[in-house]
Amino acid sequence: MKVLVTGGAGYIGSVTSHLLIERGHQVVILDDLSTGHFDAIPEGAEFIEGSILDPEAITRALSEVVAVVHFAGKSLVGESMEKPDLYWSVNRDGSAALIDGMKRANVKRIVFSSSAATYGEPTRTPIDESDPTVPTNVYGETKLAVEKLLAAEKVFSSISLRYFNVAGALVTDNDVIVGERHLPETHLFPNVLNAVRGPKPAKLTLHGDDWPTPDGTGVRDYVHVVDLADAHIKALNLLSGQGDISISGHVAVNLGSGVGYSVREVITAAEEVLGAKASVLVGPRRAGDPAVLVAGIARAGQLLGWRPTRGLAEMVESAARV
Ligand SMILES: NC(=O)c1ccc[n+]([C@@H]2O[C@H](COP(=O)([O-])OP(=O)(O)OC[C@H]3O[C@@H](n4cnc5c(N)ncnc54)[C@H](O)[C@@H]3O)[C@@H](O)[C@H]2O)c1
Repeated sequence: MKVLVTGGAGYIGSVTSHLLIERGHQVVILDDLSTGHFDAIPEGAEFIEGSILDPEAITRALSEVVAVVHFAGKSLVGESMEKPDLYWSVNRDGSAALIDGMKRANVKRIVFSSSAATYGEPTRTPIDESDPTVPTNVYGETKLAVEKLLAAEKVFSSISLRYFNVAGALVTDNDVIVGERHLPETHLFPNVLNAVRGPKPAKLTLHGDDWPTPDGTGVRDYVHVVDLADAHIKALNLLSGQGDISISGHVAVNLGSGVGYSVREVITAAEEVLGAKASVLVGPRRAGDPAVLVAGIARAGQLLGWRPTRGLAEMVESAARV
């Protein structure tokens, strides 16, 4: 398959591109390098530096492509509240431009990076794809808006993968490490690792340690980035008609591990791997944070034949090598 990967210089996009190439697919990456890294692009990928807001770049990138994996976008929840126009422009308008380009190029299959943020405050845990989608921030609203754009394209076959939290890194056979390098970094694993290895004082703030959870810290669902990338390839295979199930129209699928880890458990795992103590401050709870957020992953199993195979230790160990 020749596949267009938008945002393929970013964290998840670059790991997925590596895996696609490893499994014999051709990869074209369209990325404006706004948060991605040129050195994360795998050898063998064709790279087009450009924006999903640029129809000409999209047309060029779609040449001879049969399917798209669409990672490109802005993904900081806090920033989305400060700069809503930017998020609507890149995430929704950029995706709309990509969809227009796909229609011009007659490309009808797309896997989209959606998010658990589409659900907003969960009504139950684990969260099922049929649960209400009421985002509580602009980022989540833009992701849900793109899902709706895709669902409206009746001739498309599309899968929106609603990721929960992603962690860990790919370590290739040649010992190349492809991992998370966001700036600013808002994700727990890199921040916990920094709080353990310094330079001191790199303190990690716990947002409350009096939640109704076994150790009082918030519980979230983390999935290893290599497992996540594998789910994208399984989704592409499904859209290509491989296997017994056929998809027409749009479907949303949760991607998580289906189990939760508390913030304390992640800290302890990082301390064990690095052999040092983390500097931690306990702050107040953040308004709107649920105590527990875990993905129901039955649909991913049924449709994609996917289940995560890497646990907390592998996430921490690989992330520590970045
Ligand atoms: N990392 C997570 O835990 C997580 C969780 C849920 C959803 N997601 C979604 O997954 C996707 C990838 O996340 P990530 O963590 O790899 O983010 P990332 O920032 O590392 O990657 C995004 C990539 O998109 C590129 N990009 C941004 N705007 C662009 C534009 N206008 N045109 C072309 N390229 C553009 C960036 O340069 C970057 O390489 C995002 O859509 C994000 O919202 C991520």
